[in-house]
Amino acid sequence: MKIAVAGTGYVGLVTGVCLASKGHDVTCVDIDKDKVEIMQKGVSPIYEPGLSELMTESLAHLTFTTDYQGAYRDAEVIFIGVGTPEKQDGSANLSYVYKVAKQIAESVERDCVVVVKSTVPIGTNDKIEAYIHDKQKNDVKIYVASNPEFLSQGTAVKDTLHASRIVIGVEDKVPGEILKNVYDGFEAPKLVVKRRSAEMIKYASNDFLALKISYVNEIANLCEIVGADIEEVTDGMGYDARIGNKFLSSGIGYGGSCFPKDTKALNWLANFNDNEIRTIRAAIEVNENQKFKLIKKAKKYYDDFLFLNVAVLGCTFKPGTDDLREAASLVNVPLLMEDGAHVRVWDPVGMENFKKHFPEKIQYCKTIEEAITGADLCLILTEWDEVKQFDVQKYEELMNKAIVLDGRNCYTLDQMKNTKVIYDSIGRSAVNQDLLKK
Ligand code: UDX
Repeated sequence: MKIAVAGTGYVGLVTGVCLASKGHDVTCVDIDKDKVEIMQKGVSPIYEPGLSELMTESLAHLTFTTDYQGAYRDAEVIFIGVGTPEKQDGSANLSYVYKVAKQIAESVERDCVVVVKSTVPIGTNDKIEAYIHDKQKNDVKIYVASNPEFLSQGTAVKDTLHASRIVIGVEDKVPGEILKNVYDGFEAPKLVVKRRSAEMIKYASNDFLALKISYVNEIANLCEIVGADIEEVTDGMGYDARIGNKFLSSGIGYGGSCFPKDTKALNWLANFNDNEIRTIRAAIEVNENQKFKLIKKAKKYYDDFLFLNVAVLGCTFKPGTDDLREAASLVNVPLLMEDGAHVRVWDPVGMENFKKHFPEKIQYCKTIEEAITGADLCLILTEWDEVKQFDVQKYEELMNKAIVLDGRNCYTLDQMKNTKVIYDSIGRSAVNQDLLKK
């Protein structure tokens, strides 16, 4: 099929490349000329495992362009995968989506299906359809379908090629059948539902996962107080199939492009409709506090951070990505610096992006060893494999004062008990506290 994709961020680019890998002829449209030039050479502008390889393999079916008119004119299906960033009031900013909708309305010269992949508030697809019908230049049939995206960064290609489900939200049979054909080569359950249900499935799913994380973080905080161990607790919970054993890792809260934005957007939508969604509001509040958990813990060990050398391991919102959106590092590092600490940061792929936020004053380190040498405190913010596999004896050997605060529970307590490292993690007993007295 002849397909166009608007936007080449995580959602748009991964969708375009995966569709091309199944033999569709895909044209990806972006307004950024430089980005388009890079992609034309078969290079992915984002770090995503397997994406560059799949792009290279599928180049025969892929075109990258800034010429939206040419791309949309005779496409059978047009995916919208542009961003819907959070506005000040928590609602979703739909200006990019509408801009693309206008371009589509003015360009299409044949019957087509416009597929909204961007996460949009419930009811938006109805409005987009009315808007496109109002603005369309040619007398053709344009359907609008909702097809939310459930990919996670770091596993985006796998999540798209082997999706847990493909949700198709339509109000007519025709676009439903067309989309089923588009996804014919994808092995995943295909659910055809009402358009508003599809929009809600996306928010309800993401917000449920966010809720699960905030819940487990609150349980972890309580475990610390009452002397239980969160790892044992979540392990015990996970055997119940109704709870499941995934997404139960406690830590310093969720970040990324989806959970923070989508929880706030659903909360906003409920308020806007004179309604309340108290569970989600609580999840948001818990998460905002949880991000400061390590700084609070650090105050147990130091009254202030003036002149302290602090190593920060990991600055991305999770491993496997260079994305910093809503990462705990973005709120923790400024606090350390404001308090007079010398901050050294190590991250295997996120440092270039981090430098854009903090061009000065931070020491960027090529290795974990370099970051921790002579440090008075080490904060682990992202559970990269390099951190998990690090020889923990080295904290003892290289740090000035071996205090490690682990926001992602990278090590077992037994592992740390064999060292002279003062180790404090989430939802578990602090280790080697007796050394503080010496
Ligand atoms: C998420 C959803 O998983 C995906 O379905 C949706 O389409 C987009 O949002 P993503 O943001 O890429 O994907 O990352 P995810 O792996 O879900 O992690 C999000 C955040 O939650 C990370 O900061 C991660 O560290 C945190 N998290 C995740 C936990 O704190 N504990 C967990 O058990 C799982």
